[in-house]
Amino acid sequence: MNKYKYLISWIGGKRLLRKKIAELIPKDIEGYIEPFGGGGWVLFYKERWAELEIYNDLDNRLVNLFNVVKYHPCELARQMCYMLSSRTQFEQQLNFDGITDIQKAAQFLYVINYSFGAKGTTYAVRVKSAGGIIERVMEISKRLDKVNIENKNALDLIQTYDNGQNFFYLDPPYSKGEGYEVCSTKDFEHEKLAETLKNIKGKFLLSYDDSKLIRKLYKGFDIIEISRHKGINNYCPKGREYKELLIKNY
Ligand SMILES: C[S@@+](CC[C@H](N)C(=O)[O-])C[C@H]1O[C@@H](n2cnc3c(N)ncnc32)[C@H](O)[C@@H]1O
Repeated sequence: MNKYKYLISWIGGKRLLRKKIAELIPKDIEGYIEPFGGGGWVLFYKERWAELEIYNDLDNRLVNLFNVVKYHPCELARQMCYMLSSRTQFEQQLNFDGITDIQKAAQFLYVINYSFGAKGTTYAVRVKSAGGIIERVMEISKRLDKVNIENKNALDLIQTYDNGQNFFYLDPPYSKGEGYEVCSTKDFEHEKLAETLKNIKGKFLLSYDDSKLIRKLYKGFDIIEISRHKGINNYCPKGREYKELLIKNY
């Protein structure tokens, strides 16, 4: 396990839970499929999960970033060297019009790195430098070498790769709390995902917030309760511990 491998912080990213999640992933899988890839914290936790590995996300800023990291790491690193941390620079980087995919990836990486809570909207002054980002680009580029990157709706992706041998690790938007550029938490079709997962041939492991809706939708499945310290982006009305569920069909 290389527990230090990652590229970006991401809302709902599984930095704190990836060790626990990794322990639950079966060893004998032909394919490892992540329909809600986000920052890829679980994917990058291991050198290789399976012969076939799929990273997917509906957000094309993430997909463009990982494609550029995979195929053009040196050019991306060169672009990053010109970017200094400042509020003015941050505001300029929010405009993605009329630039190449490599420049878009550099701007996105910059914005995520220098924004409050990695939301990509508000400039956050960094006390420490963003050091290590070029090294991380190079490391993740190697890790992505044999990973296929997709930009589909998760529900379609599941249908495409469900052959009975492939394993799915799913980390959808929570039922409460922060939403995403591609979909607010409220609009995400939690019921449709549950319906799809009830009918798949392969094994799945799903992470969610602990809510009445999710417990109702996945009644009958193996539900493991875990708690962790609250992060900056998590909905947590009382107390400092945040409860999450790991749900599996095996
Ligand atoms: C909780 S985050 C995943 C975090 C990831 N596991 C990590 O550790 O960084 C959920 C992700 O699902 C994506 N998403 C939301 N709706 C989607 C959909 N219908 N299909 C595919 N991806 C979707 C969001 O863009 C977001 O990146």
